[in-house]
Amino acid sequence: MKVFITRKLPGEPEKLLKSNGLQVEVYNSDEPIPRELFLKKTKNVDAVLALLSEKIDREAIDNFSKCKIVANCAVGYNNVDVNYAKEKDLIITNTPNVLTDATADIAAGLIIACARRFHEGEKLIRDKKFFGWKPNMLLGLDLKNKTLGIIGAGRIGFATAKRLKAFGMKIIYYDRNKRMNFEVELAAKKVSLEKLMKRSDVISIHLPLTEQTFHLLDKEKLKLMKSTAVLVNTARGEIVEEEYLIHQLQRKKIFAAGFDVYENEPNINPKLLGLENVFLLPHIGSATKETRAAMSILAANNIINVLKGKKPLTPVF
Ligand code: DGY
Repeated sequence: MKVFITRKLPGEPEKLLKSNGLQVEVYNSDEPIPRELFLKKTKNVDAVLALLSEKIDREAIDNFSKCKIVANCAVGYNNVDVNYAKEKDLIITNTPNVLTDATADIAAGLIIACARRFHEGEKLIRDKKFFGWKPNMLLGLDLKNKTLGIIGAGRIGFATAKRLKAFGMKIIYYDRNKRMNFEVELAAKKVSLEKLMKRSDVISIHLPLTEQTFHLLDKEKLKLMKSTAVLVNTARGEIVEEEYLIHQLQRKKIFAAGFDVYENEPNINPKLLGLENVFLLPHIGSATKETRAAMSILAANNIINVLKGKKPLTPVF
């Protein structure tokens, strides 16, 4: 049976797949595979190990002649037409759990970087403008005793909250469901999104991108934020109305924002580059050697299970 891997990946999942008797072809590049080639290469394979950059839409699904599983090497799967996959009995898997800590580390890092103005401090040094300690230089915000609002109380939201709890923050969260781990372990309360936006000193987004979460933080919600608040997004750029967030940052209506993801990724709104009160990362939430390897190995194990007639380890439905 044949497997196609759409990129060169850490962890060498091809070795594991081959040692399980599968034939493997890898698009051995750091860049995304061109669409036409992707369609050609996946036409007659039994499984595809794909990334977020591959659109698994109707066209891709209809093009498969015998593919049983697309193992997405990411926790998010907004690149997949899940309803159509279900209709066609195509198994879709993702890579939860293994990237929780790495992503929460990045969220926590962005929160601290924004509250303590890392970008401006670094720039001052690189521009050779640091002439000694000053009592009023780059004053930021304390985190201790402030309120952290977590939007999306899943695994990564919880791991982020846990980290910031250790910094003395109080936690509130917004989620469809009451989350007992938040309530019991973090003494956190579930609140409405409006309350969270108004009350939080730091807001961190941890939702998947769906039709319901697209622009969930729109103009109206962003307007509710405190002028001293920080917003951090390590989930998906499209959840926030980016243009309006930039407008608020420009007018200092909020203190700072940390981005790991962008609305039109990989295109970055040029206005962001001119702002001092932002900290910008290039979608590296899960980018550690260990985590990226664990993600590709989990994706490979999903394929092995399915092609051996067993249940996938981490199906998305
Ligand atoms: C994910 O897993 O969804 C990330 O955004 C890519 O690592």
